[in-house]
Formats: sequence, structure tokens, C-alpha cells
Amino acid sequence: METIEKKRILSMYQCTGTFTLGNYLGALRNHIKLQDEGYQCVYALADLHALTIRHDPAELRKYTKEAYAFLLAMGIDLEKTVFFIQSQVPQHTQLAWVLNCYTQFGELSRMTQFKDKSAKHADNINAGLFTYPCLMAADILLYQADYVPVGADQKQHVEIARDIAERFNGIYGDTFTVPEPMIPKHGARVMSLQNPLSKMSKSDENQNGNISVLDEPETIMRKFKRAKTDSESEVRFAPGKDGVNNLMGIYGVITGKTMEEIEKEFQGKGYGDFKPAVAEAVIEELRPIQARFREIVADKAYLEKCYRENAPRAQAIAQKTLAKAYRKVGLVS
Ligand code: TYM
Repeated sequence: METIEKKRILSMYQCTGTFTLGNYLGALRNHIKLQDEGYQCVYALADLHALTIRHDPAELRKYTKEAYAFLLAMGIDLEKTVFFIQSQVPQHTQLAWVLNCYTQFGELSRMTQFKDKSAKHADNINAGLFTYPCLMAADILLYQADYVPVGADQKQHVEIARDIAERFNGIYGDTFTVPEPMIPKHGARVMSLQNPLSKMSKSDENQNGNISVLDEPETIMRKFKRAKTDSESEVRFAPGKDGVNNLMGIYGVITGKTMEEIEKEFQGKGYGDFKPAVAEAVIEELRPIQARFREIVADKAYLEKCYRENAPRAQAIAQKTLAKAYRKVGLVS
């Protein structure tokens, strides 16, 4: 029988804090489904990327383990999917060095994430923050990924990974698969509940703007009730109604309803009815995952076994590509 090679998907997630509803709706929820849609999925926690921002070591360890448990709770199936911790697969930093040498200062200077983060952390514009896209390109290219599912904010980083791959292949012949970004139609950019013009992020100074996937139901309800909207009261998707558009987007992704259907559902009702309805949808979506998360995180031995066993699975794939790239550039094997 003819065997059809599955297309490979790769994506990774930083673990600088607890995942936000933005990570969940814009990325995690869609990515996990792909394992049942005929793709071979490789996912990882980008703990090396997390070092580019000052952090507390004990917290990074805790957040990394919790993030691992959260993805298991969401249903990552380790029989089908490889799911590891980046720092446990040394090929990432090894290939990143090589790619650093094929990436230009000018193109790294144009990265919007670098510009945003260096403005935000002006006292710590470190070299890692600058070369972050080279490590991310290594993450992707090591696995010969066909598709890289990400939220809209990471599109530029996938594009530079493509540029680096094409440049390298152009010089040395086919070495890396040139990856395509995969960006969801809905939920690709979940905005802060307090400032709907900036994306929801773990590092949001105003924690009322950010829903964490581990927030208690009461906290989720309180944050949604306080969400910034506008001076009208009509639930309508329209330009300039950024707060309401964002809430409608969240409600739509979870319930599967279109914007028109949501408008109809809340016709004649105001934000006073709409905001708690969005909160309820989020609470019910997260409830079973939070319960499963608590069980997994309490079982330290199981959790450790999972990530320990997955590092060599990832290394086996990554090493093949690394050896090929080293050979092409003339390193003695
Ligand atoms: P990170 O950790 O910031 O985010 C993880 C994923 O969540 C998406 N996301 C969002 N989607 C919608 N609305 C939001 N408010 C929102 N916030 C985050 C991100 O787009 C991403 O898909 N550099 C990457 C991590 C990384 C990576 C990689 C990704 C490292 N190596 C290789 C793909 C491939 C990052 O910081 O994502």
C-alpha cells in the first residue's frame, strides 16, 4: 500500500508566565486539533527564548512545568505528537549559531517585536533579544516543518525564517524545507480587555486586561465585567468599537457563532447582558481543562516522565538536520 507522508507542523510557546486567553484562542486551541487532522505535529515550550527578558529562575521552572501540564490537560496526545522543552534539545542553540551567520543586522533591526521589546525593556536590550528570530528560525528549520501555526503577531518571525532558509538553500543546495505560516481566520489577535488596541499579553501591566487560562471563574467574570467598551450600548461589530469587537471575537471563537449571529442574539440587550455572557462562555470552556490541569500538575512523576521521554524523540529529528547543515557549511564531522 502506498504510504502518504504527513505534512509536518511545528509551533512553540514561551513560558514567561501562565498562558493568556490570547495564547489559548489564537494558538493552543487550534494547534492541538491539528494532531487529529492528518498532520505530524511537533510542539515545544520555548524556555530559551524566555531568557531574553529578566526573569526569576524559580518562576521560569514553575511556569515551564505548568505550561507543559496545561497542554497535556488540553489533550496533546503524546502517541501522535512530539512535545518537548526547547532547552532539553541542544540542537536548537547549535543550529541557531550557524543561522546567526546567515542573517543580516539590518533585517533583525526591522523586527517589530525587537523594537517593541527593546522600548519596553530599555535597560536590558541584550544580544539574545536581537538574535531571537535566528533561534526561532532554528526551532522551525530543524524539524523541516511545512507549516508553522502562529497568531498574527508572530507572522514576521516566520517570514524571516523563510528568508533564512531560502538564502541558505540558495548557497548550499536544498537543506531546509521553506515553511509556510498558518494564521487562524478568527482569534489571531486577541486584544487586551483594558486597552483593545494592544494585544493581550502575559506582560500587560494592567492585569485586568489579561485573562490567564488558570484564572478562577470569579476573576474571569470580574475582568470581563470591567472590560473597556464604548459609550453606546449596542452589541454591534463596527469600526471604532474596538472593545466590543474584541469581546465579540472571543465569544465567536468559543461558540462558533458569526458576528451577525451574535448581533442578533444580543439585539435589544446591552453590554450589561453581553459581558457576563462572554465571561460565562470562557469559564465553561476552561473549566474541564483547569480540572484536568490540577490533576496532572499534582502528579509530578508523570509530568517529568512525559517531558523526559519527549526530548530524545525531538533530538532524533533535529540531529539529522543539524548534521546536514554542519556538513554543508564545512564543519568536520
Ligand atoms: P508567544 O509565546 O508569545 O505566543 C505563543 C502563541 O500564541 C499566539 N498569541 C496570540 N494569539 C492571539 N492573540 C494574542 N493576544 C496572542 N498572544 C500570543 C502567538 O502568536 C503564538 O502563536 N516567538 C514565539 C514562540 C516561538 C515559536 C517558535 C513559535 C519560539 N520558537 C517557533 C513558532 C515557531 C512567541 O513568543 O510566542
